[in-house]
Amino acid sequence: MKTARPKSPRTPHKAPRPSSQPTSTKSSDKTKLWGGRFQGKTDALVESFTASIGFDCRLYEYDIEGSIAHCKTLQRAKVLTTRESQTIIKGLYRIREAIRAGNHQWKIEDEDVHMSIERQLTQLIGPLGGKLHTGRSRNDQITLDLRLFLRDALQHFQRDLCRLQQSLVALAERYKDVMMPGYTHLQRAQPVLFSHHALAYVEMLERDKGRLSDALVRIDVMPLGSGALAGTNYAIDRQYTANLLKFPKISQNSLDAVSDRDYVIEVLSGCAILMMHLSRLSEELILWSSQEFQFVDLPDGFCTGSSMMPQKKNPDIPELIRGKTGRVYGHLFSLLTTVKGLPLSYNRDLQEDKEPLFDTIDTTTTSVKIYAELLAQLTVRPEPMNKAVSEGFLLATELADYLVKRGVPFRESHHIVGSLVRECLIKGKDLRDLTQQDLFKASSSFDSKAFQVLTPEAAINQKNIVGGTATTQVASQIKAWEKALRAKPNSSTKKKRTS
Ligand code: ARG
Repeated sequence: MKTARPKSPRTPHKAPRPSSQPTSTKSSDKTKLWGGRFQGKTDALVESFTASIGFDCRLYEYDIEGSIAHCKTLQRAKVLTTRESQTIIKGLYRIREAIRAGNHQWKIEDEDVHMSIERQLTQLIGPLGGKLHTGRSRNDQITLDLRLFLRDALQHFQRDLCRLQQSLVALAERYKDVMMPGYTHLQRAQPVLFSHHALAYVEMLERDKGRLSDALVRIDVMPLGSGALAGTNYAIDRQYTANLLKFPKISQNSLDAVSDRDYVIEVLSGCAILMMHLSRLSEELILWSSQEFQFVDLPDGFCTGSSMMPQKKNPDIPELIRGKTGRVYGHLFSLLTTVKGLPLSYNRDLQEDKEPLFDTIDTTTTSVKIYAELLAQLTVRPEPMNKAVSEGFLLATELADYLVKRGVPFRESHHIVGSLVRECLIKGKDLRDLTQQDLFKASSSFDSKAFQVLTPEAAINQKNIVGGTATTQVASQIKAWEKALRAKPNSSTKKKRTS
């Protein structure tokens, strides 16, 4: 007998998970809820091949919630008497308690979560249990379960993403005045504040949150009443079911309702984009923690050593998150491919939506949570960053802009400073080592004040424009994010200032 572990009621979208694969006991077709039409016994290999119970058992909370609402709707339509409906609902509560406590048997021969619960109900309350499925099909039931699951999972996800943003903002605040080279083409380009760089990821995550909460609008549609594909013969009040389950809308086309999974694909796509962002962050952390950069120290608790080389401290967490990004992309493509050739309406292929979805939610959630912690403990090393800022002609553009302010066309000033850089390279000097005479020789528009722009601080603070890296700009961004993220997690987009 295999049982499910108890689960935390605070995160119902998480797997109850049978402690191992569900058991298979001897079965004949008569044991199947759909067995009436069959004479031959289901092949054992087919039984385990078709079963989804090993993974869809994690939908049990939603399946039961949906069944309770369906039962109340049947009662309202007088398909069930009050007493019948009460008995069924009590039975469902008991099953829910048993699953939560790990006392439910998940059996392969039950095929999926829906039939496992229905069979258990009939065992508990007798043939009356068989009335629950009136006017319903597993085809509308499964898409309801998925919608309820996603609604829940995405709400938790918004909170986790918000925490990750808070870690990044706190990191920016902790090291707000540290300068680093900004890069293009991975070549040192212009000085920026480290805090500005950290906040770039906060922006990306805000858009990720936005994408996932947009998806929620399309997830929040109640499909029950669609039946197997055509609707149902019973005059059930679908709006009533929707109200019970807190859905703002009901689906308007039964064929579409049972056959589409675009809302799952949207979530997979939103998660793939989010993982792409985390993967870029990973790449930077891996580079920055290398001997070559030495910009950051990853916390020991988030690194591992080498079994052979005693000196090694490896950035496994960023590497794994970068690696798992490929896996999440794969899930997106797997479902897009599964659905692309399906004629309307429901096809069994659609059962293949769950494993990619669950693994995507689990992988992405863990990656987000782990980064929220890692970044809270990240050490930034200002000296190597400062050293990198002072080498490599990062201030050449400042000098060119200085000439522009004195009336020289930018193309010309670009050329003048380019030749100064070339001269410095030949002589093994930096722009700051040039004399006033060197400058004057290159352009008569230079004067003694030109050297004042040749500091990284000046270069940074010149970028005093919304979105720029100047200290005051970044400080006000930090403040705005702190305020926005203190508000409700998914309202930060609205609350964020527009200045
Ligand atoms: N396990 C199925 C799925 O995930 C549930 C619906 C099955 N419907 C059916 N007619 N076989 O899609």
